[in-house]
Amino acid sequence: MSNKQFDVVVIGAGPGGYIAAIRAAQLGLATACIESDSYADPKGQVRLGGTCLNVGCIPSKALLQSSELFEQANHSFSMHGISASSVKIDVATMVKRKDNIVDQLTSGIKGLFKKNKVTLLPGFGKFIGREEDRWLVDVNGETIEATHVVVATGSKPRHLPGIPVDNITVCDNTGALAFDSVPKRLGVIGAGVIGLELGSVWKRLGSEVTILEALPDFLGAADHSVAKEAWKVFTQRQGLAIQLGVNITKVSTGKKGVSIAYELGDEAKVLECDRLIVSVGRIPFTAGLGAETVGLALNERGYIVVDENCRTNLPNVWAVGDVVPGPMLAHKGMEEGVMVAECIAGQKGHVNHDTVPWVIYTHPEIAWVGKTEQQLKNAGTEYRVGQIPFAANGRALGQGDTTGFVKMLACAKTDRILGVHIIGSNASELIAEAVVAMEFNASSEDIARICHAHPTLSETMHEASLAVDKRPLHF
Ligand code: FAD
Ligand code: NAI
Repeated sequence: MSNKQFDVVVIGAGPGGYIAAIRAAQLGLATACIESDSYADPKGQVRLGGTCLNVGCIPSKALLQSSELFEQANHSFSMHGISASSVKIDVATMVKRKDNIVDQLTSGIKGLFKKNKVTLLPGFGKFIGREEDRWLVDVNGETIEATHVVVATGSKPRHLPGIPVDNITVCDNTGALAFDSVPKRLGVIGAGVIGLELGSVWKRLGSEVTILEALPDFLGAADHSVAKEAWKVFTQRQGLAIQLGVNITKVSTGKKGVSIAYELGDEAKVLECDRLIVSVGRIPFTAGLGAETVGLALNERGYIVVDENCRTNLPNVWAVGDVVPGPMLAHKGMEEGVMVAECIAGQKGHVNHDTVPWVIYTHPEIAWVGKTEQQLKNAGTEYRVGQIPFAANGRALGQGDTTGFVKMLACAKTDRILGVHIIGSNASELIAEAVVAMEFNASSEDIARICHAHPTLSETMHEASLAVDKRPLHF
């Protein structure tokens, strides 16, 4: 028998895992969390927070903020009568600031583990079997016993065959967040979330950015009118070169940089660049977990199969976050982590996957929740639309940032809100109101009756709800 026994052992300390561990411990369960050295610091100490804190959400938003300020200093200050000459970017300082934020947050989770009495087990976790009613998990040669195991091993970047990533010249998200200088010419494969966010960062800092996308449609998951507006702003106003419907045939690297051969229709083309970001999606990570040893079921795409409560096919084994089907978003993983801990403690946990918001942190930001107009059309649902441009909002005018709109979709019969789509400044914050409304099955009329502070960007949500009933007051 092992001398390390726990009620709950969580494998992986990303947003899904660390939240599951903290909540389980709050509920009085003896809890441990295993984290490998994937993101170890230079001294080899385990860093918590997974992809999100180390090479994902947080560092990317830090760089987006720095590059946006640089962009504003160069292009927006003058309309306020502010002149800023010889604005320069010191990439090393910008990256150091990002690294400090990452350090602060990752060590903060160690503090939260201490506060909540979660035992951190540094090492790689692997199922080795079951004894009576307990799971046996190996961590660096030591056997840990657990009544419940929560698998939260996350995801890793998908790489393309024949395109080796060295994270210096050809980069996935890890390298793309740590460039030591602004590349003169930056190539990006994949016009998804990472391609657009990190492409924007380096474009604002001065790179010539070309994004090559396999699909013929731009931002296919977003509402079409939002995607159309985003296309216009990114390509025409901001100068991001985006080519859709390409077929990459060969990527070669040499002293002069990277050469990407691709087909566009019948034409053979070549893109020469100094650095390349490959951002073509992520894949669930279960390598070395011992899934086959214990018979943990994975689907054909490698995700762990779970039910609506994140139970796997094995008794008392749960899985959350990027390693299970669904959007690969930190907040979705965190919600699942809370649900699983509460279910283990005998409570009734739930996650409403219909109200998980999406945000793309470009400028303008893009955010949505619920159904798109094309999804409603395809489903034959009758709906009404209310759409208000930020150009009709006093606060947006004051801020000098009037791009975009708020679009609300409501059921034609019940008026229940079915989807809200925003492109514009602060969309990431504005979407929260729509999420609350939809979580509580609110109607557009409910939003119309709520007093919104003036002057705020949130008034566009109010006006959009009024517009559903064709009675906007300021447009
Ligand atoms: P992960 O965060 O991947 O964590 C899994 C952890 O498990 C890792 O620390 C890994 O080392 C560890 N691990 C794996 N196997 C083992 C093992 N056998 N033993 C021990 N440890 C193990 N999402 C958002 O919601 N908003 C954003 O703005 C956003 N921005 C992003 C930007 C980028 C550039 C990227 C790449 C992703 C971004 N995401 C964003 C997605 C978000 O990072 C992920 O959805 C989230 O991190 C998933 O959490 P997770 O806990 O499931 O897995
Ligand atoms: P993505 O799925 O968002 O986009 C990948 C893009 O690459 C797609 O448009 C796809 O059609 C394209 N593609 C695939 N193969 C290709 C090929 N061979 N040639 C050219 N294009 C190709 O994936 P991305 O951007 O890598 O991000 C991974 C995930 O990380 C996201 O899906 C999201 O879940 C998460 N993320 C979330 C963020 C946020 O919430 N703001 C920010 C960044 C990442």
